[in-house]
Amino acid sequence: MILDGRKISAQVREELRAEVATLLSQGKRAPHLAVVIVGHNPASETYVASKLRACEQVGINATKCALPETVTEDQLLEVVRQLNADDDIDGFIVQLPLPAHIDEAKVLSTIDYHKDVDGLHPYNVGLTALGQPSLISATPRGIRELLSRYQIATEGKHVVVVGRSNIVGKPMAMLLMQKPYLELPKMSAASLGNATVTLCHSKTHDLKQICLTADIIIVAVGQPQMLTADMVRQGAVVIDVGINRVADDTAPKGYRLVGDVDFDKVAPKCSYITPVPGGVGPMTIASLLQNTMQAYMNRQ
Ligand code: GUN
Repeated sequence: MILDGRKISAQVREELRAEVATLLSQGKRAPHLAVVIVGHNPASETYVASKLRACEQVGINATKCALPETVTEDQLLEVVRQLNADDDIDGFIVQLPLPAHIDEAKVLSTIDYHKDVDGLHPYNVGLTALGQPSLISATPRGIRELLSRYQIATEGKHVVVVGRSNIVGKPMAMLLMQKPYLELPKMSAASLGNATVTLCHSKTHDLKQICLTADIIIVAVGQPQMLTADMVRQGAVVIDVGINRVADDTAPKGYRLVGDVDFDKVAPKCSYITPVPGGVGPMTIASLLQNTMQAYMNRQ
């Protein structure tokens, strides 16, 4: 069965749209997100456009701060400090990756953690690790929401996470293993967290054997179709975080999007699987909006 990220994302956004409408009807202002983008990475420009469009749809104010590729680290840090100080901004993100001359860790740790709606500030990462309420990285939060709304429980399951990035792999593993603190107001009956988690990466030996023992596999490595059918046991749940552009002369844009999973061969073995596009991607955007609403509410 397909896990339809577009459909669930639309449900989440509809709930947020109603919440924003209620705020406005009470004479309050709408939440306000800012998105900082540096340079012209084509994938980043597409993601940022989708994020801004989603805000507009639900009534969240959105401001784009586009900076040139040549911006200095000091200039970018100054923009971050201005957004920190701007009372009208509830949350903001700095779209990654940044150009090589800018220290990403320094930029992320300069963001006011109250406004860190990507959940990448060390303080929010620490709270997530401790199992305490925090702003959670949007992709792991979106995957949790997707599992929850399809009533796919993780309790007691063996979940294999492939990829150890700060933005997906590590926070995903932390969310899955923790005792849930039930901060999800509309959570379904599915019991989330309490999983047995194995975190694999590029130096892992016997990745195939480990994946074959998984009830749920979450792949976030950025390698087209690296998870093949021989690595997946019958009935497993597969979550594909990869969004890779591969050259395709027959496609209108000259490329097509493929995930980290060999979808056509893996799907017949799965109980549930996310497609690319239309799986995790829309959920990341929905969760960014949820985080923005959470940051807004925390500031009230
Ligand atoms: N680059 C790819 N995905 C993301 C994301 O969710 N947030 C940010 N800031 N950068 C990204």
